[in-house]
Amino acid sequence: MADPRFDSSKTKNQALIKWISKMIKMCNPKEVVWADGTEEEWHRLTSMMVQQGTMIKLNEQKRPNSYLCRSDPRDVARVEDRTFICSYSEDDAGPTNNWHEPRSMRSKLRGLFKNCMVGRTLYIIPFSMGPIGSNISHIGVQVTDSPYAVVNMKIMTRMGSKVLEQLGEKDFFVPCLHSVGMPLQEGTCDVPWPCNPENRYIVHFPEDRTIVSFGSGYGGNALLGKKCFALRIASCMARDQGWMAEHMLILGLESPQKEKTYVCAAFPSACGKTNFAMIIPPKGMEGWKISTIGDDIAWLKPGKGGRMRAINPEAGFFGVAPGTSKETNPNAIESCSKNSIFTNVALTDEGDVWWEGMTEKPPAHLIDWKGNDWTPDSQTPAAHPNARFTAPASQCPTIDDAWEDPEGVPIHAMIFGGRREKDVPLVYQSFNWSHGVYLGATISSEKTAAQEGAVGELRRDPMAMLPFCGYNMGDYLRHWIIMGKRVELAPRIFHVNWFRKNAEGHFIWPGFGQNMRVLQWIVGRCRGQSKSKETALGWMPKYEDINWEGLDFSEEKFEELMHFVPEKLRLQTLSHEELFLSLFNHLPKEMIFERELLICRLCK
Ligand code: GTP
Ligand code: SPV
Ligand code: MN
Repeated sequence: MADPRFDSSKTKNQALIKWISKMIKMCNPKEVVWADGTEEEWHRLTSMMVQQGTMIKLNEQKRPNSYLCRSDPRDVARVEDRTFICSYSEDDAGPTNNWHEPRSMRSKLRGLFKNCMVGRTLYIIPFSMGPIGSNISHIGVQVTDSPYAVVNMKIMTRMGSKVLEQLGEKDFFVPCLHSVGMPLQEGTCDVPWPCNPENRYIVHFPEDRTIVSFGSGYGGNALLGKKCFALRIASCMARDQGWMAEHMLILGLESPQKEKTYVCAAFPSACGKTNFAMIIPPKGMEGWKISTIGDDIAWLKPGKGGRMRAINPEAGFFGVAPGTSKETNPNAIESCSKNSIFTNVALTDEGDVWWEGMTEKPPAHLIDWKGNDWTPDSQTPAAHPNARFTAPASQCPTIDDAWEDPEGVPIHAMIFGGRREKDVPLVYQSFNWSHGVYLGATISSEKTAAQEGAVGELRRDPMAMLPFCGYNMGDYLRHWIIMGKRVELAPRIFHVNWFRKNAEGHFIWPGFGQNMRVLQWIVGRCRGQSKSKETALGWMPKYEDINWEGLDFSEEKFEELMHFVPEKLRLQTLSHEELFLSLFNHLPKEMIFERELLICRLCK
């Protein structure tokens, strides 16, 4: 029986019609709307949300066509402990994921979703992760009762009727079901940020390639194309189909001789991917040019020229606001100068946004992220530490000409980075692919605001994928080993750490734009142009191997930055053991041998 709320004439894909009809029946919304991603729709939905108190329109002169949202204070970040991988077998999810048996999970979810959209509008969002039509791209369809999710998805993905056209009658898509989990019974009033913190579930069914998310409207919990699809489900698809889905930025570096080299880099959440992706050449390196392909996720597939080819599956940036300034990241500031959405930042008296670190001196008065008056004397931050901007990638001044190239760009290097205050040097290169995979497998980081939990605590975060790998981490590392052999010219692998501190607790390395000196050395290594010395950890630059033009950085400081104590690092291999042991029957042998070799090299 056709549902009068649902206009199924928009698509001929029978699986899609069937799935949506089922969702409508279960969720029971007041009405159903196809989201088409047009400007008209953007204006209609933003005006509606302004009227409902969900959004505040920012000053049109200062921040054209942009909006501020304040979330419920209980709904401010991804919730890893409420994120589940429901593979048939627990072993397939592995010890680093929350596994739940799929049948009982489905029945629990059916209970939660029954009538969960009463009084609300159900939006259908057809979206493409990656340029429409690229053979690296994939299509998803999100059903949601959050208009906030719809307008964010417009920025973050390619969405609307052109995606439906691309989706043929029988083509595959990833069904993504989302609800904020707060039905609007007749006579009850809506709240600005509906959510259901007591019943949050971010659930993945990897074999069925489906996603179900309930109770949160924030970030990766609600914009299902991002972490849920482009990493957790895509990592499973990639394993089965021979490609890679990684938590990586993609950038290009062009030398003064106009030679362009693309690299990917994996850093854990809130450890500087957005900054690095649009880095500004420091004084002394003006002849070098940087370009941006993506700041968070890379999909890589063996392709033309015997190399890994990478695309950015996203079309926008969902970037950490605090700490972003004209000094630290002018390109991010420019990217969100218009047509952007800000979540949990502070509001200025002029109707613009502000956050910690945006300017040296805070304004005398603000409305903080909770909607309260704020002055520089206030004891709490004006913006939430995980406050974010949603900005179109096309507005980034450094966006690469090839950022929508369906073939992807050829990758010469992969960089892994942790956030480590002690022990770990600025940069070193792996001896070969399997050693490189080992470096990625053992990166660790101090916890940041993007995750719930105590900030500062050390956690092992293989390939920055700990919260995002949709299957057994041991099998994932094995897939990495295999992929290195699938291309003639595998990327060279490097390890970096921008965050080392001295005895006084100050960063030794100035970081940000200066990281480009490290990048120049890395690209030079890939092209046989940079020198290095062999150490127990890998190939390292000597002081004279780095371009210091325009920066006064002494050899002594460089030594302090690159110094490592073999005994200490040997002991730290024990903490790799904890992760490796838990993965023992899935872990590729290479990881064990690489660890043994490392220990041997670290012994006198
Ligand atoms: P997700 O979007 O959560 O995946 O994070 P991200 O990796 O894109 O994080 P982002 O680039 O927004 O970096 C967040 C934090 O890292 C900010 O507080 C920056 O100030 C800090 N940061 C970035 N680059 C550097 C650096 O080179 N040195 C130091 N010390 N801090 C940095
Ligand atoms: C991250 O936490 O790595 C993010 C933010 O990029 S979210 O999209 O919320 O996962
Ligand atoms: Mn991220």
